[in-house]
Amino acid sequence: MDQKTIDLLVTAAAAAREKAYVPYSGYKVGSAVLTRSGRLYTGCNIENASYTPTVCAERVAIFKAVSEGETEFMAIAVVTENGVSPCGVCRQVLAEFMPRGEVVMATTDSSRQDVMTVAELLPRAFGPDDLHHVR
Ligand code: THU
Repeated sequence: MDQKTIDLLVTAAAAAREKAYVPYSGYKVGSAVLTRSGRLYTGCNIENASYTPTVCAERVAIFKAVSEGETEFMAIAVVTENGVSPCGVCRQVLAEFMPRGEVVMATTDSSRQDVMTVAELLPRAFGPDDLHHVR
């Protein structure tokens, strides 16, 4: 991924992060995903008083895009204060929709911008191909 694409994704994810609904953890996360067709979709984490319905920023971004008819993604950014990587559940969703995609993990002050592939983050992922024989 070139630096221009990284900057585009990180800027959009940082803006989305400001919308995070986090009354319980106070931990804001923003995300932005780039479709193969060149569109950007953003997401923030959305928490819930019952805790388990909480959704991560990455899944909000991807599900918004999928609900608009997008199924092919190139790259996703996740922006947090401390530059964390996506949780295990999100990695599984990344493996579903962008198994050959890249993930930018950035801090809000852009002091860190780590890039890894989805395959590196979730090796030997269970995926759509594993169910083909039963379809
Ligand atoms: N969270 C995300 O949105 N993405 C991640 O990659 C890690 C965790 C959220 C879920 C919850 O709202 C808060 O961060 C604390 O776990």
